[in-house]
Amino acid sequence: MWQSLFGKNAERDNTIFEKLKECSLPRHTAIIMDGNGRWAKLRGLIRTAGHTAGVDTLRNIIKTAVDLKLEALTVYAFSTENWKRPAPEVDFLMTLFYDYLKKEISEMKRDNVRLRFLGRIDELAPRLCQLAHEAVDELKDNTGLTLSVAMNYGGQDELLRAVQKIAAAKKENDREITLEDIEKNLDTAGLPPVDLVIRTSGDLRLSNFLIWQTAYAEFWATEKNWPDFAPEDFAQALYDFSHRERRFGGVEAVKC
Ligand code: FPP
Repeated sequence: MWQSLFGKNAERDNTIFEKLKECSLPRHTAIIMDGNGRWAKLRGLIRTAGHTAGVDTLRNIIKTAVDLKLEALTVYAFSTENWKRPAPEVDFLMTLFYDYLKKEISEMKRDNVRLRFLGRIDELAPRLCQLAHEAVDELKDNTGLTLSVAMNYGGQDELLRAVQKIAAAKKENDREITLEDIEKNLDTAGLPPVDLVIRTSGDLRLSNFLIWQTAYAEFWATEKNWPDFAPEDFAQALYDFSHRERRFGGVEAVKC
């Protein structure tokens, strides 16, 4: 079930970080960073100004995840469907991703962040693709937060590629495909399943994001646009998650 804080943000408890110390946190949190365009429009700015503001939010949320010692954080930066946007906006986003990566690698190294990418990275512009591979390599020995950036990513496309890889590796008389086969061939291989999906900006949908990995994820949404999403909002989502009862299809509640 989606649980939102619609209309409740004014009552938010500022001691939320204190309260979080008592809570068990999700192993893997995934965020749909939506509403950059709406944020800009509300301020009479062009859409791309919202994306620029969104970078600062992302930086703050990653820092918060590091401080909270989260295991895995995955963010949806660019979908396989986002190519339908006007070319100048797509170009702007690609430059933004490049500049962000270039600038943040040393900070991530300091923060012990391991980086991975989900999606068809090799189909991005060669210089972005090369930088992405270099960044992953540079940070591969880190042992803290695993940050995954979904870029040129679609959940259906990821599943299709996984099935194609499995089929290509199968011997002719071996028709069996297991859950493990699929999981091992997804872009997220080795990551824990998603426990919590956060979506900003009020829409209540998954938008082709991690459709396999979110099978038993808890959902949390806010009307705030991504550039307005603060570390306290992130903490509130984690706190609410820790009070959910999960049953994973059974009858016994499994405490988060
Ligand atoms: C959704 O807002 C946002 C995106 C498609 C791009 C996400 C990019 C960032 C948050 C910038 C930082 C990311 C990285 C990896 C450096 P939207 O444009 O769909 O907003 P709207 O729904 O209001 O139009």
